[in-house]
Amino acid sequence: MGTIAIYPGSFDPVTNGHLDMIERGLKLFDRIIVAILINLDKDSLFSLEERTEMLEISLKRFSNIEVDTFDGLLVDYAAKRNVHAILRGLRALSDFEYEFQMAMMNRRLNKEIQSVFLMTGLRWIFTSSSIIKEAAKFGGNISDMVPQLVYEKLKEKFNRPTKMGSD
Ligand code: PNS
Repeated sequence: MGTIAIYPGSFDPVTNGHLDMIERGLKLFDRIIVAILINLDKDSLFSLEERTEMLEISLKRFSNIEVDTFDGLLVDYAAKRNVHAILRGLRALSDFEYEFQMAMMNRRLNKEIQSVFLMTGLRWIFTSSSIIKEAAKFGGNISDMVPQLVYEKLKEKFNRPTKMGSD
């Protein structure tokens, strides 16, 4: 069956940073399950169906990636899928405390499941779905930070032309 990891998140929407993390995760794991949290409390810009579709299309070139959804505890989902590794990306320093807390809690809840962290690609160190949405909302050019279809979807959602920008 090979080695499997779960790469969980909100993916509202998927960014190039996520895709970079998944590609690098595939150098360590034979298969990755990308698991979207069904979070009824959190206001998301994209519906669960839209988020799933954007991930599936962006990842269709990989035969060893599955996109799934989960609710409740991540460790319970991992146990249900019989997966022992959770993959997370670390960006700038600010991620560390939250990720550390979450990994410790997950380990306390189920010591059979290990958290594995990869440093995010340098290019994506300061990008996040939230900051990308914020920029897109006000017409900023985020075309090189998300897959093309996400870019189009963001334009549709905010219904305004994006300004030209530069790195
Ligand atoms: O992309 P995000 O929003 O940073 O992902 C956070 C996610 C989905 C990994 C995290 O919120 C999560 O695992 N939620 C499920 C509930 C849970 O198990 N929380 C951690 C221990 S209390």
